[in-house]
Amino acid sequence: MNKLGRNDACWCGSGIKYKKCHSAFDDRLYAMAKNGAKVPGRKLIKTPAQIEAIKESAKVNIAVLDYVADHIEAGVSTEEIDRWVYEQTVKYHAIPAPLNYEGFPKSVCTSINDVVCHGIPSPDEILQDGDIINVDCSTILNGYFSDSSRMFCIGNVPEEKKRLVEKTKEAVYLGLEQVKPWGFLGDMGQTIHDFARENGYSVVQQIGGHGIGLEFHEDPWVSFVSERGHEMVMAPGMIFTIEPMINMGTDEIFQDSDNGWTIYTEDGMPSAQWEIQVLVTETGHEIICY
Ligand code: MF3
Ligand code: CO
Repeated sequence: MNKLGRNDACWCGSGIKYKKCHSAFDDRLYAMAKNGAKVPGRKLIKTPAQIEAIKESAKVNIAVLDYVADHIEAGVSTEEIDRWVYEQTVKYHAIPAPLNYEGFPKSVCTSINDVVCHGIPSPDEILQDGDIINVDCSTILNGYFSDSSRMFCIGNVPEEKKRLVEKTKEAVYLGLEQVKPWGFLGDMGQTIHDFARENGYSVVQQIGGHGIGLEFHEDPWVSFVSERGHEMVMAPGMIFTIEPMINMGTDEIFQDSDNGWTIYTEDGMPSAQWEIQVLVTETGHEIICY
């Protein structure tokens, strides 16, 4: 980090003098880095204007998922969900971020039962009574990214699958309580992992959350099997996702070798995921997308 003069304009773009803006912030991060902590680079600290723009994108993403929530039911194909997401997103003059992302062929990920994530919508896949499904939406509005996912229980879902869905949501919001400036991402990660294990579940290790806002996937990579006091320091202005994948059985997973995307549980048991997008604030956190 280059040292700014105390009376220079702050690097964050606020127009305020550095000494009155991010000077104390930089000193604090620098001291933590000297003690061996991983600290966020300036690119990961969003300016107020960027935060506003990311929130506008998130409003679209929330509206699209609300639309899905209002219409999803047994008998609907995941292809229809994809069409809803595409049509609703473009209605708001936005773009579904998954479409053509690294070759992903659809506008949304739809992951049913033992599909952990990155399920590809298909006309042949019809929602059945008793299914649990994750619908993962991501939006680009004016170049700014948002990302969240929700679970839906279709019809009469067996009690143990419903419990997995509910406990996974609880895990996300318990982890969220750990999000505050100058803590570590591992505080959140360990909280989620401990809670999942206490409930008899496992947490997927190889796939996690991510920074987001100016790009779909930014640093840091966010683990949900991490340890308290470890991983990157959380600083005001950071935006990242909390999106643990929690499995009823083994944490082992495998990738569909035909499509190169879809991830399944190794043992065929169900997996659940909820995703929220979170801003670290001066005093704690703010949910910007859900
Ligand atoms: N929404 C997913 C995430 O949480 C992104 C999946 S990439 C896609 O990171 F191309 F499959 F959409
Ligand atoms: Co995500």
